[in-house]
Amino acid sequence: MKLDAEFVCSAVKLTDCPRWHRVEVAIAGRSNVGKSSLLNALTAQKDLARTSKTPGRTRCLNFFSVGERFALVDLPGYGYAKMPRAEAHSIAKMMDDYLARRSNLAVLVSLIDSRRGPEHEEVELAGIIERRNIALIVVGTKSDKLRNSERRAAIGRFQILGVEPILCSAASGAGVDELRRRIVASVERSAKRTSQADLPPSAK
Ligand code: GTP
Ligand code: MG
Repeated sequence: MKLDAEFVCSAVKLTDCPRWHRVEVAIAGRSNVGKSSLLNALTAQKDLARTSKTPGRTRCLNFFSVGERFALVDLPGYGYAKMPRAEAHSIAKMMDDYLARRSNLAVLVSLIDSRRGPEHEEVELAGIIERRNIALIVVGTKSDKLRNSERRAAIGRFQILGVEPILCSAASGAGVDELRRRIVASVERSAKRTSQADLPPSAK
């Protein structure tokens, strides 16, 4: 399976987001967790999203269309302190608006470093997503940094979210196929829901 993605635009506020009917799959996570790298691994396009050793690289929402059906959205990282306060504030507001109000958002992929597991922000994010009835996929990133003996404990740390994590590595490619399948399945399920919602009640 291939996900051919194409950069469409960047947005710093909700009104900049594309006006389209595509289902959006957003990639969220702490700064430096590996969002942009995983996006590149998922699409097998290594320079699609810009990655960096310096946290806080992605500072706006970047939209990538995939085929005719859906779009991937690379979100700015949260939890990065070394940024002018006004900029951090405007990024946080944009993220809150997008997560709370963007109607195209159907799937959220929450990236969490495999070695850290979920913290307060990730638990809160999962709650927001659940209340909005958006599908949640949980990914433990940089799994290449885990020893085999550490994997079970790493998976155990994710229990608090109530969703089985997929351990992935953009570096080795581990877990990336499974994540791709899960994304496509979630997109298909939510497309079906939307098309049913469009029908009059008697036709359902
Ligand atoms: P921001 O845009 O700043 O929020 O960061 P990001 O979450 O997009 O992270 P990015 O993909 O830029 O990666 C951050 C750093 O982690 C880079 O130095 C990557 O090379 C490294 N990295 C990303 N994925 C992996 C992985 O699977 N394994 C290892 N070992 N390193 C990774
Ligand atoms: Mg990034």
